[in-house]
Amino acid sequence: MKIAVTGAFSYSGKYITSKLLERGEEVITLTNHPNRPDPFNGKVKAFPLNFSNAEELVKNLRGIDVLVNTYWIRFDKGNNTQPKAVENTRVLVDAAAKAGVKRIVHISITNPSADSHLPYFWGKAANEKFVVDSGMNYAILRPTVLFGKEDILINNIAWLLRKLPIFGLPGDGSYKLSPVYVDDLADLAVEAVYKKENYIWDAIGPDEFTFKEMTELIGKTVNKKRALIPFPPRLALLAAQFMSLFVNDVMLTPEEVDGLMANLLISKEAPRCKTSLKDWLKENKSTVGMKYASELARHF
Ligand SMILES: NC(=O)c1ccc[n+]([C@@H]2O[C@H](COP(=O)([O-])OP(=O)(O)OC[C@H]3O[C@@H](n4cnc5c(N)ncnc54)[C@H](OP(=O)(O)O)[C@@H]3O)[C@@H](O)[C@H]2O)c1
Repeated sequence: MKIAVTGAFSYSGKYITSKLLERGEEVITLTNHPNRPDPFNGKVKAFPLNFSNAEELVKNLRGIDVLVNTYWIRFDKGNNTQPKAVENTRVLVDAAAKAGVKRIVHISITNPSADSHLPYFWGKAANEKFVVDSGMNYAILRPTVLFGKEDILINNIAWLLRKLPIFGLPGDGSYKLSPVYVDDLADLAVEAVYKKENYIWDAIGPDEFTFKEMTELIGKTVNKKRALIPFPPRLALLAAQFMSLFVNDVMLTPEEVDGLMANLLISKEAPRCKTSLKDWLKENKSTVGMKYASELARHF
């Protein structure tokens, strides 16, 4: 097969690509960072992820059997906004359908909703609709927070716990999440490439932690058991925004705090992914959080 994966040199796309190459498939990527370190020794040809040139997208997607779409943006910056990312996703899905791509494997998020006031969640709902209405066969995977070597959120919690004597929880930290290992998500995506039927699956790991429990677990594993202090959510956000100045990043957005506190990162479905965050942290305790991971440096 010939498969196009967005972001094959970035995060989840890299794990998915690696598994497809192991199976002997031909993979191309659509990316705006063709010069990122290429872990595939030139085996994956890179084409622009340029939404302002739909014709070029169609041309580069001709002959592709399956598109694996990981594209999304975490937060707005300048003209690069989440509503624009919804428009961009429509352009990409339309281009794939026009190019004759037969199937799309689309990465979404748990609990997307057209009624949500949070752009991440209503945007994901809008994207899913483009995929379902595209005429292509589809599988939609809805992960929660990912963890893995290149992760941002869990890595940066570990980084903060390593650096600071206390950790401010937004609210009481009782809201829940079920983190999922990026390599397990990649397994589900690869399985979805070969299936023929249409489906929408949540992609969650085996644990369901409160945010406080997860932060305690990270602190215990990296040997930095800190006092976890409940803060009014907006104050915790303000503190994160202040610290962002020192790392030249956006550590946390108001929408992310709201999404987390609204219990949107858990699922009612049985877990499909097996790797426990606890086990992964144990194996990676000497590296997790040693360096700050910057979203701005990576994507903007
Ligand atoms: N990471 C998580 O914890 C998490 C949690 C739940 C759901 N998800 C979903 O899983 C999917 C993959 O996430 P990921 O973390 O693995 O993403 P990623 O690999 O960092 O990026 C995926 C793709 O989106 C592009 N992209 C990301 N941010 C962008 C920006 N600001 N401007 C332009 N392009 C941008 C990347 O472009 P380049 O190729 O140029 O890098 C790449 O092609 C996304 O749909 C995300 O919503 C992720």
